Amino acid sequence: MTPAEPSAEHDGASVPPPGCPAHRGGGDRAGSAVPLSGPRFQTEPSTLYDEIRREHGAVAPVLLDGDIPAWLILGYRELHQVTADPVLFSRDSEIWNQWHRVPEGWPLAPLISRGQPSILYTTGDRHRVRAEMISDALETVDPFVLRHFAEELADELIDGFCAEGTADIIARYAMPFPVRVLAKIYGFPDDQGPALAAAAIDLADGGDRAHAAQRYLFEAAESLLASKKNTAGPPDVAARLLRNTGGFTEEEILHDLTLLVIAGHTLTADWIGNSLRLMLTDHRFAASLSGGRRSVAEAMNEVLWEDTPAQNAVGRWATRDTSLGNRPIKEGDLLLFGIAAANRDPRVRAEGALLTGGNNAHFSFGHGEYRCPFAAQEIAETLARAAVEVLLDRLPDLHLAVPVEELERRPSPWARGLVTLPVGFDPTPAVRGEEFG
Ligand code: HEM
Repeated sequence: MTPAEPSAEHDGASVPPPGCPAHRGGGDRAGSAVPLSGPRFQTEPSTLYDEIRREHGAVAPVLLDGDIPAWLILGYRELHQVTADPVLFSRDSEIWNQWHRVPEGWPLAPLISRGQPSILYTTGDRHRVRAEMISDALETVDPFVLRHFAEELADELIDGFCAEGTADIIARYAMPFPVRVLAKIYGFPDDQGPALAAAAIDLADGGDRAHAAQRYLFEAAESLLASKKNTAGPPDVAARLLRNTGGFTEEEILHDLTLLVIAGHTLTADWIGNSLRLMLTDHRFAASLSGGRRSVAEAMNEVLWEDTPAQNAVGRWATRDTSLGNRPIKEGDLLLFGIAAANRDPRVRAEGALLTGGNNAHFSFGHGEYRCPFAAQEIAETLARAAVEVLLDRLPDLHLAVPVEELERRPSPWARGLVTLPVGFDPTPAVRGEEFG
């Protein structure tokens, strides 16, 4: 998404008509709709969400690119209510009452589409069958083999910079990492990893390059599926999706495979980057950086609560008029998930309380029927944990090379990840030098 300064004023042409979420108030909390764009989603999201909550309550009217109105759910209970009721709050984007306002080439089209035959917009029994089919394909990935692949790739990437004494951990490590392991278990050629990673990042940030990135990912997935057809190759995820189609068409499977790359890569890369940032900047973790495996798990879980890779996400559409958090919701209204805001909802969290350790009741993986599949969550955790642990094992004196205030976030109100994470360490010789794959 192209960043724009939040503005309370809108010219006549762009003011939403009466009946839109941007104009429908909830008693004394009406206020003006909040543009879902601007630098504060990067620089101070927690303060921003607290302000929105104070002004608008648990469900706030927001404006998407092009001043298209929607609701942002900031309340933990309200988000639970919506994710637990897929009949009233559907994933069927066709029913959106704002399609007439969506312009040609809308920057958010890759995030909010219609007529897209992927699991994301499938409902009812067909969704349940499809989710099971994807879970079956992902569950056959052996966690030990996955960890082995992940450690090998981590070593190879570290070998690429360990003699230099400095590196940008995002560009050289976190970003190339998940997609290259995922590419291997899905069945993509190894040398396609960097291009897949670049496309996945462009798409997640929703900028000008998002459309081209989406095309590239489809074409890559299409060639992979074509290469798997009628061949007795290794039983990777793509081959399993083709063997157990669950009655879904090739086009539908193509969309699912593309989603598995997109959903799996950027969020896991940002989980790695945000966890390393926390460990390198917070004194609670600094003392146990080297070999502190328990603290790695704690840092990763804390990130899912406090600095989640998916700060806001799409969403559900109301199938009839209803109310949520004292807001009148109209049939066809879009409700966005304020994941970061709900995770810090003061009604379920004591002021300032950190929820780490084993408490994983955060919303970072969603909830309910459409939550991130458990097998996918495990894959994400195995990858992120291997990446952090191997890096800290190999470079035990790793430290931040710039003041923490200089660390910038990527310009997106959706994903939350670092632009760079410059670190320093004692240069060491490469220990492996083997090619991954
Ligand atoms: C830190 C890493 C990850 C995070 C934070 C994350 C988060 C999410 C969220 C918030 C949703 C949407 C839930 C909803 O709409 O209710 C989702 C859905 C999904 N995720 Fe993940 N995810 C991660 C990693 C992965 C990985 C590694 C994969 C694949 C291997 C994956 C596959 C999927 C799929 C297929 C869905 C759609 C499920 C459905 O519609 O039924 N995710 N994820």
